[in-house]
Formats: sequence, C-alpha cells, structure tokens
Amino acid sequence: MRSPTSVTVRAPAKINLELSVGRPAPDGYHPLATVFLAVSLHDEVTATAAPPGVVEVLVTGAGGVDVTSVPRDASNLAARAARLLMDHAEPAEAGGLGVRLHIDKRIPVAGGMAGGSADAAAALVACDALWGLRLSRAEIHAAAARLGSDVPFALVGGTAVGTGRGDRLTPALAHGQWHWVLLVADGRLATPAVYAELDRLREGRDVPRPRVSDRVMAALRAGDPAGLGAVLRNDLQVAAVSLRPALGRVLDQVLDLQVPGAVVSGSGPTVAVLAEDPDQADELVVALDGLEGVRAVLRADGPVPGCRVVDVAE
Ligand code: C5P
Repeated sequence: MRSPTSVTVRAPAKINLELSVGRPAPDGYHPLATVFLAVSLHDEVTATAAPPGVVEVLVTGAGGVDVTSVPRDASNLAARAARLLMDHAEPAEAGGLGVRLHIDKRIPVAGGMAGGSADAAAALVACDALWGLRLSRAEIHAAAARLGSDVPFALVGGTAVGTGRGDRLTPALAHGQWHWVLLVADGRLATPAVYAELDRLREGRDVPRPRVSDRVMAALRAGDPAGLGAVLRNDLQVAAVSLRPALGRVLDQVLDLQVPGAVVSGSGPTVAVLAEDPDQADELVVALDGLEGVRAVLRADGPVPGCRVVDVAE
C-alpha cells in the first residue's frame, strides 16, 4: 500500500456543561470532574509529507477567527503532538519522518473551547495515518493525555465525563441534540491565570472534592434544555469574571433573555448560551449581534463525534 502524501483531520470544540474543580495537587494541577460536550465548530489539520526531521506549522483562520497569537514554532501544541509521535516511532522509522501541518481554525483562539487541544488531537490522528504508524487507540490516547488535559476528549468527542485532570474519560448517556449560541467575548484568558485566580479566591475556605452532579446527568439523559440550562455550572466562571469583569456584564445581559441557561466555557472567556431549540438559537444569533464586549456570535450544536479523517491524498 502506498503511503498518503497528505491527510486532513477535523476536530471539534468542546463546552464544559459542568466543571467542578478541587484544590491543586502538589504538581500544581487541579483534580477535576467535568461533563464535556463536543460541538459542531471544527478546526481542520492537514498533515503533508515533509523531509526527514522537519515539523513545520502554517496557521490560517476561517469565519473571522483571529489567529495572530497562535504560535508557529515548536511550542505549537500540534507541532508537539507530531514530535511526540516521531519520538515514539521505531528508530529506523523515526529517521525518515517529517511533516508540514496546516491548521485551519474556526474554533476561537484561547476562548475556553479547547481549540489548541483539538489541533493537537487532530495532528496525532493525521500524523499516525500519514506516517503509517498504526498506533492503537490506547497509544494515541496516552500521547493525547501527555499533551494536555483536554486533548483526549477531542479525540473521542460526543458527551463524556472527565476526571483526573479531565483526561480520564467515561462516555455519558445523552438524548438528542443541544443547540448553542457561543459569545466570543473580547480579550483572551490564559488558563493557568484563571486557575490561579480561583485558588486565590478560595484561600482559607474549604473546597469539596470535585464531583459531577446527578442533576446534570439526569437532564442530559432526559434531553431537557430547561432542566440542563438550570444546572450548567463552572467553578472557573467566578475566576474568569474576577479577572475580566466585563464578562460578568455579558452573562447578566444574556441571562435577562428567556434562555434555558448560559455558562462560561472552560477557562473562558467564551460564553455558551443554551437555546430551547434550533429556531430560538438562530433568533438569538440575531438578537445578540453587537452585544457590548462580544466580538463574535457563533452557532453550534452537539454532541458531534471526535477527530475524523476527512481527506486523504495519495
Ligand atoms: O492541561 P493543559 O495544558 O490544557 O492545562 C493548561 C494549564 O491549566 C496547566 O498548565 C495548569 O496551570 C492548568 N490546569 C490545572 N488543572 C487541570 C488542568 C489545567 O491547573 N486539571
């Protein structure tokens, strides 16, 4: 069989329907219990054969995504994914491997929707196929967990409960589709800064062990937007709002509308607004256009599958 000359993989963004954060462990990471939902906003990564040892990154944006802050060097998470697989390959094989990664982004950058993690997951799947490594699912999952807490979920997609650092996944039962409007708020929030702010706000207080609530799981199974909207919860939201008070004003304005619920996604600053149905979501896109402090209003539905190969060129 001839090896492909290029492989394109599509990877989804995520929303955390619930994000429960514990006290940091000695390694600085926080134990989590979270419910992930993969949504129909995708980045595409095309891996093209390149001379041995080369890992190059090209980044473009579609749908108005600003990609200026995405690193083009070895620190890019997708480039690190490619290097990790190179190091993992047999020495005889590894000497011949190289790749050009074209990352075409639609997921907001540093928005709390795991866009960088989606790119890393896509790069793992694309390089595995391009280089004919035939890694097992378990091997790809282990590589994903080494790259970042949200990378394993981008591989599997759907609806899942994440524990540990968010990388230990169990599929969650969910009924039907959920319809969202995503408000991409101004400015970026660095994930470590948001966790640090949460720790600061919690100083001197008891912090319960992270857990996923039965009410979230029941609403997911029932396919009930009003029920789910009422229990959306993110422990990082208070920290994101503390660092960026304008985000609190965006949330207040949205919750004044007749919507089932809204929550900051991950470490923010994107706000995920849950709609009753697709019609209400489409109406909200129009109603929320031009909201102060918001630079883009996007539509997305979920659950959607995780990383998928969408094109192979021989
Ligand atoms: O795992 P990832 O690289 O996405 O995490 C980015 C940063 O977020 C970490 O360096 C850490 O500061 C913080 N983090 C954390 N606890 C987690 C996940 C992330 O403190 N469970």
